[in-house]
Amino acid sequence: MCGIVGYIGDKQAAPFLLDGMSKLEYRGYDSAGIAVYEKGKIRVEKCVGRLDSLRQKLAGNVPVGTVGIGHTRWATHGRPSDRNAHPHTDSSGDFVVVHNGIIENYLALKEALLEKGHVFLSETDSEVVAHLMEENYNGNFEETVKKVLRMIEGSYSLVFMCAAEPDKLICTKKDNPLVIGLGNGENFIASDIPAIIAKTRRTYIMNDGEIATVTKDAVWVQDINGTPISKKVFEVNWNAEAAEKGGFEHFMLKEIYEQPKAMRDTMTGRVAKDGSHIEFPELNWTSEEFADINKIFIVACGTAYHAGMVGKYYFEQLARVPVEVDIASEFSYRSPIIDSNCLTIIISQSGETSDTLAALREARRLGSRTLAVTNVVGSSIAREADQVVYTYAGPEIAVASTKAYTTQLLLMLMLSIYVGQIKGTLSAGRAKELVAGIKVIPEQIHELLENVDQLKVFATKYGNSEDVFYLGRSLDYAVALEGALKMKEISYIHAEAYAAGELKHGTLALIVEGVPVIVLATQEDVYEKTVSNIQEVKARDAVVIAIAMEGDDRIPKYADHVIFIPRAEKYLTPLLSVLPLQLLAYYAALTRGCDVDKPRNLAKSVTVE
Ligand code: G6P
Repeated sequence: MCGIVGYIGDKQAAPFLLDGMSKLEYRGYDSAGIAVYEKGKIRVEKCVGRLDSLRQKLAGNVPVGTVGIGHTRWATHGRPSDRNAHPHTDSSGDFVVVHNGIIENYLALKEALLEKGHVFLSETDSEVVAHLMEENYNGNFEETVKKVLRMIEGSYSLVFMCAAEPDKLICTKKDNPLVIGLGNGENFIASDIPAIIAKTRRTYIMNDGEIATVTKDAVWVQDINGTPISKKVFEVNWNAEAAEKGGFEHFMLKEIYEQPKAMRDTMTGRVAKDGSHIEFPELNWTSEEFADINKIFIVACGTAYHAGMVGKYYFEQLARVPVEVDIASEFSYRSPIIDSNCLTIIISQSGETSDTLAALREARRLGSRTLAVTNVVGSSIAREADQVVYTYAGPEIAVASTKAYTTQLLLMLMLSIYVGQIKGTLSAGRAKELVAGIKVIPEQIHELLENVDQLKVFATKYGNSEDVFYLGRSLDYAVALEGALKMKEISYIHAEAYAAGELKHGTLALIVEGVPVIVLATQEDVYEKTVSNIQEVKARDAVVIAIAMEGDDRIPKYADHVIFIPRAEKYLTPLLSVLPLQLLAYYAALTRGCDVDKPRNLAKSVTVE
């Protein structure tokens, strides 16, 4: 994520930058910095920590100047630190950038720049952009930006300053948000509307590939070939609170809709360019060390534990390694049998959950290799595990986890393909098929999110039920667990998930007339058995809502209602089938008037045992 801002006008830049950044802290808050054109050069001030740390650092010595940029960081490449904080500069300090996104080819670019004598101060991917500006500057700021954009790959919103041309800021974007606020004798740049809403409601919403030159009196937009683009003014009519949620009613809904982007970011740099395999350049274990792994423990809490349940199917079936999944608070007290050929995978969105951290320490104490899967760079779990792979979901604000979960699933799948490739349990052809499926997932999620009317109707119809049951087999069962958790967390409906085959061993006693039963039926190898379970609950007059794959023309004969998900191959269906379950929970909570983002008694990060 990260939040970026820019100001150019007649007034002092720093107050706007700091205020705008405070409105963007929901996009990242591990470090902050500003750059202001002051007395003929660009002065950069930045530090690790929340924005308040920067304010304290600047107390009594705020940069003076009417042009500047700012950044509030959510670390991806390089842990939170003063040096990794933005803005970044080239060696001379004449080119300064703030960046939101990931420069995928930064390592190759950095190596080439190091050979040319550039000295890098940070571990970030972003710093290469400032050095590329220095290396390529030909006396024309715009042309140099265009040249640099042709060199970088990845996703970005970028704002550039150039000491030799201080009367303009240049900004551009690809796959990350950017808006320009239009003022009188001043203009503003920001990742998102909340940062500028107090100053102006007249905006240009930037599209991918557009490059804007922003002066105090004008904004010129062109594409990379120099073709001018005429922009329409977008008048913002949201209030400040709605603006922070991107116009969505709740952070949870916003985060549900961020899933296509979160998926793309998590794939970045891990799906080989030719689509043939999965790679994890950040992992330092050798192939031999991976091949030696003969058992995997997956340990986590809450939603992350449910991602681990799906991970078990992936690792066992694709990499043929036996897996045990543990709730973190249980793991530490059950004397697990572990040695150095075991890999313990710790999943945690926050990287700070106390029980999960304790389990990580226990696994290390017992001699296991440890791998953290977390969303927060530099978190305790990321620091203490032997190795770490990050989900790039961006900050998750709503207590009920959504985009963190789906990125965890995606990482579980990509890691199991990766280990399968190394162990030789997965053929090259099969790996390629799975990678092809992974690549279309963001588009399929997007498609699902476009059609939610049916879910709203179900939520209104069944939202006042006392109980709801979730059934599924195999991967569908693991997803059912997460669906039920979402429902109970935010709507307070008693929701339970069962392996459909267990139905007759107890749960069936609870099935009475009119009880909603959500049945996941996406797994072809257990489809017939799942249909039998639908018939069992229908015989007790339950109302069955089935989640099935598009093209399944049998399921409407058995279920009362069917929610179709795009057709995908079996290992990919969890990434899709959970979407309607998240949305059903969300709309049911709305029906019941619950506080969706802050459900009673629950906390986002549980740092007590
Ligand atoms: C809390 C949150 C859940 C989360 C769990 C684990 O219970 O409310 O949404 O799944 O902690 O958190 P972690 O940050 O370790 O993934």
